[in-house]
Amino acid sequence: MRQPMVAGNWKLNGSRQMVSALLGDILSGLGDPLTAEIAICPPFVYLQEARGALEGSGVVLGAQDVCDEDEGAYTGEVSAPMLGDVGCRYVIVGHSERRSLYRETDELVARKFEAVMRAGLCPILCVGESLEERNAGVTEAVVARQLDAVVELVGPERIGEAVVAYEPVWAIGTGMTASPEQAQAVHAYIRGRLDLAGVSAGSVRLLYGGSVKPENAVELFAMPDIDGGLIGGASLQAETFLAICRAA
Ligand code: G3P
Repeated sequence: MRQPMVAGNWKLNGSRQMVSALLGDILSGLGDPLTAEIAICPPFVYLQEARGALEGSGVVLGAQDVCDEDEGAYTGEVSAPMLGDVGCRYVIVGHSERRSLYRETDELVARKFEAVMRAGLCPILCVGESLEERNAGVTEAVVARQLDAVVELVGPERIGEAVVAYEPVWAIGTGMTASPEQAQAVHAYIRGRLDLAGVSAGSVRLLYGGSVKPENAVELFAMPDIDGGLIGGASLQAETFLAICRAA
């Protein structure tokens, strides 16, 4: 049985004041223990602050990116061991904004995935197609290419411990959420593709990301292969984020 999961990806948002205010509101609004595992992924510079605020709450910490190297002459980078050092359990790798804006290749994403596992942390591997690719009917080919690069480098054995987030690029930040059926179809394909590659895909949590809101979360999360969500904009308001967490 896969535990549902909801992770909030704050992206380039936050301040010291916001970290304590927003996390304070989330924690005070949590109420009874949720069935879903809840993770918060603030910008690097607020990880320590967030760790302190989340201490003992059961809400876990994640990072939005990572270097593929563990140490050395890589100015400006942050390594997986460092993220573990400040209490991260999860690390998002291959977010579409990293792939498109910062030209991260499938191979670099695979190396980042491996670095996260090497440090004993859990990768959240983001995959997903652009609107052009969906309209061209190549969604599955795109997702397969992104998954295969990781399986080829890391091997199928350990991927069963990871999380995969399907984030159709055309749904991110647009309000154009994938329908539950559209998302379920790709999630089922991902699970099948991982199974084919020798991964024990039954244990892999598959999150959906892309304009998840309280209004659509229940229907999305009710799908058999959707195990929760990777939430952007809606994670920046305590009420909406908690409503989504309760839907999982
Ligand atoms: O990583 C989650 C993010 O890409 C989704 O963003 O604002 O559409 O929920 P949003």
